[in-house]
Order: sequence, then C-alpha cells, then structure tokens
Amino acid sequence: MGEGPRLIAALDNPRAQLGPLAGSLRDVVVGFKVGMPVLVAKGIGALRELRDAAGDSLIIADLKLADIGDVMVRTAEVLKGYVDVVIAHSFVGHAGALDKLKEYLDREGLKLALVTSMSHEGSYEFYDRELISVESLVARLRPWGLVAPATRPWIVRRLRDDLGSEFRILAPGIGTQGAVPGSALCAGADYEIVGRSIVEATNPRVAAEELLRAQEEAIKRCRA
Ligand code: XMP
Repeated sequence: MGEGPRLIAALDNPRAQLGPLAGSLRDVVVGFKVGMPVLVAKGIGALRELRDAAGDSLIIADLKLADIGDVMVRTAEVLKGYVDVVIAHSFVGHAGALDKLKEYLDREGLKLALVTSMSHEGSYEFYDRELISVESLVARLRPWGLVAPATRPWIVRRLRDDLGSEFRILAPGIGTQGAVPGSALCAGADYEIVGRSIVEATNPRVAAEELLRAQEEAIKRCRA
C-alpha cells in the first residue's frame, strides 16, 4: 500500500462545475475519475477543463470500454492528452480486444485499469463466477490497475493475495454504496474511489477531508 492520499473523487454530476470542484479537491485526492454522465453531457471540453484545474492529479476516464480492440483504440485516441488512465471491462477478453487497447495505451504512455468485479449485487451473476479467468487475464495483460469492489472486500483481498503487489487496486463502493472508508485499503486496495459522498456533500472539500481522516483511523486499526 503506497503512502500519500488514497482517495479518488468520482465526478459523475453533469451539473457540477468541474474546474472549481477539482481545484478545491486536488490537494486532498490523488485523482479524479470522470464517467459517462459528465462525458455524454459535456463532451471532451469537460476533460479539458478538468485537466487545467487538476494540476498533477491523475485523471481517469471511466467509460468502462467493452468493444473490439480497434474501436476501443479509437475511443482512447479521443481521450489522449486529457487523461492518464483508461478503464476497460475485462470480460471482452485478450485477443482482438484488450491486447490491442493495451498495446496502444503503452505506446502512448497511458495506463489501463481493468474492471475485475463490480460493487453492485449483479456482479455475482457473471463477473464473480469468472474471477479465476479474470485473474489469468490480468496476469497475462499486466494492466496498471484493477477496479475491485469495496463492497466485497474479500475480492480485493483475494486479488491482492493471488496477483501480488504489481497492480494498483482501485476500490469504489465507499459511502453511498455502503462500504466504510478505509475498509478496502485494509483489504489490500491502494485507492478508494468515492463519488456521491464527496460531490453531493454541502462542502465537498470538507467531506473529502473527513474521508481521509476516517481512512487513516481505519488503517491505524487494521495495522495494529
Ligand atoms: P459513488 O457515488 O457510489 O460512486 O461513490 C462510485 C463511482 O465508482 C464507479 N463504480 C464502479 N466502477 N467498477 C467500476 O469500474 C465498479 O464495480 C464500480 N462501482 C462503482 C461508479 O461509476 C461511480 O463513478
């Protein structure tokens, strides 16, 4: 588990002013994740605004890509220059899909994060039944990061135990979805992704600071 901020803010509210929001959070989070609601509503201009406001923070494009390789590469070409990390689903597989995306991202100095399991209950229906296949894909593809659910910390723990320390684990599900701040870090994640509990708070900066404190307390307890 690396030191430094371990919080990633998920910016999913298309009505939020991304620039000022990112500016107020950038020294308390390690990065920002932007997904469909904002990108569909605001387009690539939203990423430009975020890039300008976010300083050195990591910017993660969460389009959860799941297509043939050539089309995922075309999407990544549009994102290039604005983001540092691109999230893709693992279930599309290696040959003709993630192999091409990974090759492109490596060439362009961008990072790939793979969804390995999801934070909602429906993840049991498909993803969680295929965790062994997902793990062998991860070992073969060697992405920069894995997205794994804070709501099911035993999956985070299993990925860390089975796959080692090479991969960063990014865990959504803290706060609104029910997981407690710091719980995924204690299970082996590197970062916790938090959306609504920050962005919809009356004061997002204060909410993020409270989450950081709660993470630190949890880490102290689980390391004791
Ligand atoms: P909230 O508001 O619930 O936002 O804190 C969570 C953020 O994380 C995303 N999310 C996921 N992304 N796998 C993913 O790749 C997941 O299992 C998952 N669960 C939540 C969600 O899109 C939101 O931005």
